[in-house]
Amino acid sequence: MELLKACDLAKSFGNTHAVKGINFHIEEGRCVSLLGPNGAGKTTTLKMLSGLLEPTSGSIDFKGEKAKDLREFIGYLPQYPAFYNWMSGKEFLVFAGQLAKLNRKEAEIRSEELLERVGLTNAKKRKIAGYSGGMRQRLGLAQALIHRPKLLMLDEPVSALDPLGRREVLDMMREIKEETTILFSTHVLHDAEEISDDILIINAGEIAVSGSLGSVMEKYRQPILHIEFESQAADWLKSITSYSVVSEVDIQGNKVSIVLNDMVNGKQTILQDIVDRKLPILKFETSQTTLEDLFMKVVKA
Ligand SMILES: Nc1ncnc2c1ncn2[C@@H]1O[C@H](COP(=O)(O)OP(=O)(O)OP(=O)(O)O)[C@@H](O)[C@H]1O
Ligand SMILES: [Mg+2]
Repeated sequence: MELLKACDLAKSFGNTHAVKGINFHIEEGRCVSLLGPNGAGKTTTLKMLSGLLEPTSGSIDFKGEKAKDLREFIGYLPQYPAFYNWMSGKEFLVFAGQLAKLNRKEAEIRSEELLERVGLTNAKKRKIAGYSGGMRQRLGLAQALIHRPKLLMLDEPVSALDPLGRREVLDMMREIKEETTILFSTHVLHDAEEISDDILIINAGEIAVSGSLGSVMEKYRQPILHIEFESQAADWLKSITSYSVVSEVDIQGNKVSIVLNDMVNGKQTILQDIVDRKLPILKFETSQTTLEDLFMKVVKA
């Protein structure tokens, strides 16, 4: 079922057209990643969906109806969350719960539940000032979940974290996605590949690619050869672009990545050529283009 739909959603700041009339929808129960380079419009989009920014034009439907105030249904963790550092983790959650219209008792119970859930029970009485980056981000997740939202929106939830903190938050998101629809933005394509069901790539304020991760990869995935030589093979590389099986060639010193239109024929043609010319080959590997390759292509275009 369709949970949220953005219709021609746009936001301008003076002459900056941050989001240029985008259309997309989010299905209930999915984990959706919003990908795009710096300045693409990810934060602006999430802020409009969460009601923090008024769109310049366009509308948002929630469960098929024009949305007015979505705060009850949406939990939001900003890109740069601010905490009251003098509060303890527990105090902060109870406070957030009351802001979200839970009564004191409900806020207390829900806070305890979430502290347990995000692994902060032992630190609940400590001042937030002493929390690590990973702990703060987990507290932020708990805060966003306090009123049992239908949609959880996370803006770059792992970007500022070290590998350990990142792993903690990703594991938590994997658990949360079992019961809550998630929309999160990220630069880390590997994370998006790991946990999302659907992806949206936004570039310069426009949606460039959207769909389920599987269908997008299926549609855009191409076979790729990674070859390493003992010395540069620039002359030969120039000549292979004329083969119809070769789609793109990316040379990095003695290494080359060759995107092929057809793996079986391409591999044979290239390998035969290398053997015929007795080129000093060190490594010859086959693989498929990744989400990162697709992202680079979309963003550079
Ligand atoms: N309050 C504002 N006033 C003026 N311009 C803004 C404002 N907020 C965002 N912008 C501009 O809108 C564009 C999109 O910004 P946005 O923060 O949405 O990008 P982003 O995809 O979240 O980038 P990042 O990956 O760096 O977080 C940028 O050009 C940015 O400079
Ligand atoms: Mg941003």
